[in-house]
Amino acid sequence: MISEHVQPDPVSIGGLLDWGVRLLASNSTSPKLDAEVLMAALTHRSRSTVMAFPERAISRKLAKEFRALMHRRAKGTPLAYLTGHKEFYSINLRVSSDTLVPRPETEILVDQLLRHIAPMGVAKVLDLGTGCGAIALAIKQQRPNTSVVAVDASEAALSIASKNGSRLGLEVEWIFSSWFKALDEQQFGFIVSNPPYVGREDPRLIDGVLRHEPREALDGGMDGVASIREIITGAPRVLAPGGTLLLEHGNDQKLTVSKLLRANSFRSIETHQDLAGHDRVTLGRVA
Ligand SMILES: C[S@@+](CC[C@H](N)C(=O)[O-])C[C@H]1O[C@@H](n2cnc3c(N)ncnc32)[C@H](O)[C@@H]1O
Repeated sequence: MISEHVQPDPVSIGGLLDWGVRLLASNSTSPKLDAEVLMAALTHRSRSTVMAFPERAISRKLAKEFRALMHRRAKGTPLAYLTGHKEFYSINLRVSSDTLVPRPETEILVDQLLRHIAPMGVAKVLDLGTGCGAIALAIKQQRPNTSVVAVDASEAALSIASKNGSRLGLEVEWIFSSWFKALDEQQFGFIVSNPPYVGREDPRLIDGVLRHEPREALDGGMDGVASIREIITGAPRVLAPGGTLLLEHGNDQKLTVSKLLRANSFRSIETHQDLAGHDRVTLGRVA
C-alpha cells in the first residue's frame, strides 16, 4: 500500500530517491529510473547529476512536489505525462494527457517512410492522427525538403503539436480534421498513420496500462480496425498515382490490414516487424 511508506525527512535527494524506489517497487518495471528521471525533471538537473550527488538537499516545497509526482506514477500515470516530455526519433517533444505518448515502435513507421525518400528528396507527406506531432516532425527533421501536412481530430493535441513544431523550428501544416474530411484537393505521395487500433473492449483500455491516455487516440472500434478501414478506404482519392500508404497496426492485424489494402487496389503490400519481432507496419502502393 502506498500510504504505508514512510516519507523521508530531512529531504536529501538520495533519501527521496530511496523512498521513491520503495514506493514504486510493485508498480513499475523501472522504479529507480522513474524516480531519477522525475527528480531530474523537477530540479532541472541531468539524471547523472541527480545520481552523482545523493547527499544534496532540496527544498521542502520541491520534496513535496516530488512525492506527489511519485504517487501519481505509482497509480500508473505515464512518466512522460509527469515530466511533460518524450523523446521520439531523437526529438524532444512536449506531451500532455491530451496526446498519446509516442512509442518506440512508431519509429519503425518513420524508418519505413524515410526509406522511400532520399535525404534531400522532395515529397508531399500526410500524417493522419498526428497527436503531439511525433511522426510529422521526425519526417520534417529528417527530410527537410518534404512538405508535411498533419491532421488530428483533437484540437488539444493539434495545439501541442503545433507548439512542438514552432519550438523545434520545423514547418508542418497542422489541420483540424477527421481523417481526410477537411483536406482540400491536394494529393500526397505518401500517407503515414499510427491510428487508433486497440479493440474497444480490450482490458488494457479499461483498467490496464492504457487507461491514462486519451481514449480517442486508442479506441479502434469493436474490431480494432475501424479507423484503419476508414483510412484505407479514403486514401486512394488523396494519394497521387503510385503513392504509398504506411500504417502502424496491432501485432495481430497484419492479415486484416493487408486484405483491406488489396480490396482497395493497393499493390506491393509489405509488412515490417518492430524490434520485439511483432508485425507492426504495413504499407501498400496505389497504381
Ligand atoms: C495512436 S494516436 C497516434 C498519435 C501520434 N501520431 C503518435 O504516433 O504518437 C492516434 C491519433 O489519431 C487521432 N484521431 C483519432 N480519430 C481521428 C479522426 N477521426 N481523425 C483524425 N485524427 C484522429 C487521435 O486524436 C490521436 O492523436
